[in-house]
Amino acid sequence: MTLVNRPRRLRANGAIRSLVRETVLHVDDFVYPLFVVEGENLKNEISSMPGNYHYSVDQLEQEIQEISELGIKAVLLFGLPEHKDHCASQAYHEQGIVQKAIKKIKEINPELLVITDVCMCQYTDHGHCGIVENNYVVNDASAQVIAKIALSHAKAGADIVAPSDMMDGRIAAIRDILDNNGYTEVSIMSYSAKYASAFYGPFRAAANSAPQFGDRKTYQMDPANSDEALREIDLDLQEGADMIMVKPALAYLDIIRRAKDRFNIPLAAYNVSGEYAMLKAAAEKGYIDEKATALEMLTAIKRAGAEIIITYYAKDAVRWLRGET
Ligand code: PBG
Ligand code: ZN
Repeated sequence: MTLVNRPRRLRANGAIRSLVRETVLHVDDFVYPLFVVEGENLKNEISSMPGNYHYSVDQLEQEIQEISELGIKAVLLFGLPEHKDHCASQAYHEQGIVQKAIKKIKEINPELLVITDVCMCQYTDHGHCGIVENNYVVNDASAQVIAKIALSHAKAGADIVAPSDMMDGRIAAIRDILDNNGYTEVSIMSYSAKYASAFYGPFRAAANSAPQFGDRKTYQMDPANSDEALREIDLDLQEGADMIMVKPALAYLDIIRRAKDRFNIPLAAYNVSGEYAMLKAAAEKGYIDEKATALEMLTAIKRAGAEIIITYYAKDAVRWLRGET
């Protein structure tokens, strides 16, 4: 009897493997997160996320040029304000850190898409993503503030606002306030299925945004749930989200796939700080090959169904794909 099916035929050499490859990473897949801080002349490496920096607005020029020259199409902006308070007032201030950074980036390269993370946690003294009353993050008042923040980002020139707070009804509140103020062309990328994940640790150290009491489990999703993610996405789409997101990515590939199969809408996956730091640390110790593992991880996220990958590896990945080391 001859062996008719020999799958190894299609793996015999690099050329045939390329020919039959289903998933190929491309520079257009990536969004690069950027952290901006108040002050001058600052470019400080973030210790929990090696290779990423806190930039003061006056230091953005070189970084934006580099990102643009690599061909990356979008950045995701995070701001660290000078002052925090109970209601995150610096988050929607006209001269707030993100608002200033948006204008600066648009001056440097108007074509680079500016996506802004819309949340309160970096701006509140309690570190929660909403308004706190009696030690509880209240929903509707928080959604109103989130909408106000989104509007201030739109006014500063953001192309896409990305609320990451997980309040119910915030997408509707944002769409409403944007449309009522003439920003019908500003898109919403919703962090729709955002889990209460321990993988955000390095980011919270970087953004100084850890909750000062309790945790985020009353608003972010339970990692054990999957149907709930589809329901969250469905609600966001009804409320007017243009793009949806699953976050984190690597431990939630099943959620990405379910979302991809169910909805016909651009799907982003956030390859979060802990996923990045995990590889970085192991690579530094010599346990893994950073380039190979990072590209495998990003390929897996795309294969699972994400067409947009937000990753701290964006710049490295583009260089690796170009054949640079
Ligand atoms: C703010 C926000 C967080 C992240 C993105 N936006 C942290 C959190 O929810 O605590 C995490 C990003 C990362 O870990 O890379 N709401
Ligand atoms: Zn938050």
